[in-house]
Amino acid sequence: MSSSRIFSLVLFLSLLLTFLLGCTPRPQTWPPPAETTPAASWHIDTARFQSSAHGNIACETCHPDISTADGHPETENLLLAATEMYDYSRCATCHPEEYAAYERGVHAEARANPAAVRIDAAPPTCGDCHTAHYATPESRAELLVSVNETCRRCHPEEAESYEHNYHGKAALLGYEQTATCTDCHGAHEVHALYDADEALAACSRCHPQANEQMASFTIHAQETLNVAPDDPNADNYVLFFWVKLFFTVLVVSVLAFFYTHTGLWFLRSLHERLKGGHHDH
Ligand code: HEC
Ligand code: HEC
Ligand code: HEC
Ligand code: HEC
Ligand code: HEC
Ligand code: HEC
Repeated sequence: MSSSRIFSLVLFLSLLLTFLLGCTPRPQTWPPPAETTPAASWHIDTARFQSSAHGNIACETCHPDISTADGHPETENLLLAATEMYDYSRCATCHPEEYAAYERGVHAEARANPAAVRIDAAPPTCGDCHTAHYATPESRAELLVSVNETCRRCHPEEAESYEHNYHGKAALLGYEQTATCTDCHGAHEVHALYDADEALAACSRCHPQANEQMASFTIHAQETLNVAPDDPNADNYVLFFWVKLFFTVLVVSVLAFFYTHTGLWFLRSLHERLKGGHHDH
């Protein structure tokens, strides 16, 4: 074999290897998708209800209109999710702090001004994150999984970038000291942390020596041109987009060139062999 043929063979094998490695299946996706949303059924599991944090509360306490059956005869209400019909200001009687905190956060703000919402999701109320009948305290390990699942339903891109980040990987490994979404953003008084001082305050809770430079670390690295105008990382995301595009084009064209080259070389040697003429043995 000529040296050029050996070269083509080696090149072909290494490209094949690169291709196969690139196709290796990713590890199982994490966390597993939520099986049901909180308000998926009208059935009440009494045993589960009774062992929940609300198990000792009478139905009428939370459903004062249950005996008057207000709205009950309206058949079109059956098409509504229970969360759309419930008046969650009733939760404030027993959970005034959580309710007041929620009112100060971005989700309540977005509910008050739906026209300003930029993503394809409805801003959540209590029932989107909690199942009132089955509310139970969660361990830290359970929280790391359930918070991620809850927020992912409406913020899939941030959930994904979180997983690429140190904190998300550590959560996947079950490291309980790591940060989950609500540790940085808050569960009820949710803030975007676009403001440098707010971001610094969030990091400082676990990184006491954090400074402004650390707080500007890009937690949700994305490659996109579709950025929120008030996101301080908007320029980075656009830069990441072009860098990724550049390298994708580069890799694809290099691969295409060499595959074509090897293919043509093969055809040429086949042609010569069939012709029975000289070939470069
Ligand atoms: C702590 C308050 C609370 C208590 C106690 C409570 N509910 Fe509810 N219930 C709710 C809320 C809030 C919803 C709306 C869905 C949600 O957020 O989970 C709801 C929804 C419902 C629904 C609509 C279907 C569904 O599952 O979402 C039914 C039916 C219902 N409740 C019946 C009952 C009965 C019967 C009891 C007593 C065994 C009871 N509830 C006790 C708060 C409560
Ligand atoms: C049912 C859907 C839903 C769920 C669940 C949800 N969100 Fe949101 N969230 C929204 C919507 C809608 C907005 C408003 C977005 C906008 O203004 O473009 C929002 C806004 C935000 C913002 C501000 C974004 C911005 O650009 O200003 C943050 C931060 C946020 N949510 C974090 C969370 C976290 C953390 C969780 C989980 C604990 C969560 N969200 C769960 C729907 C949801
Ligand atoms: C965007 C999701 C989300 C919404 C909306 C939400 N919660 Fe929560 N809530 C959580 C999470 C997550 C926790 C777990 C604790 C944590 O991460 O801080 C929690 C914890 C709680 C707790 C346990 C005590 C505590 O503070 O840790 C109560 C009580 C509670 N929520 C009530 C409410 C009420 C009432 C509302 C409606 C005003 C509400 N929540 C709206 C996500 C939410
Ligand atoms: C009659 C009083 C009462 C009402 C109304 C009520 N709760 Fe509770 N809730 C409690 C008590 C008591 C507990 C258990 C002790 C605790 O954690 O505060 C509890 C616990 C919880 C928890 C779990 C807390 C934990 O330890 O992780 C959540 C979540 C919660 N409630 C959400 C709600 C939501 C959402 C509503 C409105 C639909 C609501 N509650 C209405 C009394 C109430
Ligand atoms: C270690 C802290 C930290 C954790 C954990 C974290 N975030 Fe963020 N998040 C930030 C900061 C800081 C910003 C402000 C802008 C930026 O850096 O992207 C932000 C921005 C956001 C925004 C605004 C839009 C954007 O992309 O900039 C949303 C929505 C959001 N986060 C949701 C989530 C969700 C959902 C999770 C969990 C899956 C999560 N965050 C986990 C720190 C955190
Ligand atoms: C709930 C606690 C918690 C919060 C809040 C938190 N982190 Fe972390 N973070 C950790 C832990 C635990 C580690 C593991 C390494 C360590 O112990 O320092 C870590 C590691 C890191 C690392 C990689 C390892 C290193 O030390 O260089 C970076 C970068 C980081 N965090 C940035 C941030 C930023 C930026 C914020 C705020 C936007 C933040 N973190 C908020 C708990 C947290």
